[in-house]
Amino acid sequence: MAESTSQAAPPPMHTRITELFGIRYPIVQGGLAHLSFSGLAAAVSNAGGLGQIGMACFATPEEMREDIRRLKSLTTQPFGVNFPLGHIPVDPFVDVALEEGAHVISITAGNPEGVLRQVASSGLTSPPKTRVLVAGTRAARKAQDLGADAVIAVGYEGGGHLRREDVGTLVLTPKIVETVGIPVLASGGIMDGRGMAAGMALGADGVELGTRFIATQECVAHQHYKEALVAATEADTVIIERTMGRPARVLRRGPLVERILATEDELTRRGASREEAFEALYPFIRGEVNKVAAIEGRLDEGFIWAGEGVGLIKDIPTARELIERMVREAASAAGRLHSLFG
Ligand SMILES: Cc1cc2nc3c(=O)[nH]c(=O)nc-3n(C[C@H](O)[C@H](O)[C@H](O)COP(=O)(O)O)c2cc1C
Repeated sequence: MAESTSQAAPPPMHTRITELFGIRYPIVQGGLAHLSFSGLAAAVSNAGGLGQIGMACFATPEEMREDIRRLKSLTTQPFGVNFPLGHIPVDPFVDVALEEGAHVISITAGNPEGVLRQVASSGLTSPPKTRVLVAGTRAARKAQDLGADAVIAVGYEGGGHLRREDVGTLVLTPKIVETVGIPVLASGGIMDGRGMAAGMALGADGVELGTRFIATQECVAHQHYKEALVAATEADTVIIERTMGRPARVLRRGPLVERILATEDELTRRGASREEAFEALYPFIRGEVNKVAAIEGRLDEGFIWAGEGVGLIKDIPTARELIERMVREAASAAGRLHSLFG
């Protein structure tokens, strides 16, 4: 089980990301559709990382406002709001985040230009910092040119929706680092301090974790989801939705995922268009089906997102235990490396 919290917190770290976001450790909790509410975000921010609530958790901007207000009652530390683009118009949600004083805005899954402009023209004396998810050098350069404050490089190992480039974190991170001058967060497959140290060794200024934060006590995910992550091996995830042009990584578990894979095989064989694929797959991949498993715990009736790093998850700690342990592990990994050089 998780190690005791009786140890003192590790000393603060100093990177461009800790400076930019005003946080103690360069560890960011990724946006998690249906799972990243104020409880988890506050726990992460209170532990010295950057917690985020996800727009994808809310049906309306006012619902999101209510949860941001709850978050502000739980922490005085900086927090972020995540905006995955492409589902519904995000501007009214961005307005709420600006009005409620979010410190960081992260933009994923689409063209970030509109949201970056909305933030820049907000007239706020200290507007939130912006982070844009990228999975290739062109997108990274574009984000920088559009004025983003940082980019997140998410590799192919990651859980949930991925970009189409299929490049792993080990290669993507240094490529992005050498492409842009703004701070870079490495993400995808990072589950512990070893992964964090590796990301920093590749030149990143911080790391973002998605799957790992689901298996924490404060996440609203059903206990069955968390236990399935602990039980899974690194070979237990698979990509779905590629026929729709938006690959995403799930835990390969239960009849529904097999049905999705069989349907996609058939769609590929007959050269179906993305629109046809969407129509055929929608009943199985819509958010409600995800929630049946993720929130209600009926794993065999739905599907759950997870990255390859599940094979490294062994417990369900508090967010604070996880973050402090990661920092200690990263320091020890860095010390080990240092000791190898004379
Ligand atoms: C359950 C789940 C839901 C996710 N939902 C979102 C989301 O709403 N917005 C987003 O930008 N990324 C989302 N992601 C991606 C994560 O923020 C993060 O980039 C990714 O999980 C990193 O890879 P890792 O899972 O290996 O840590 C999701 C990931 C998972 C596992």
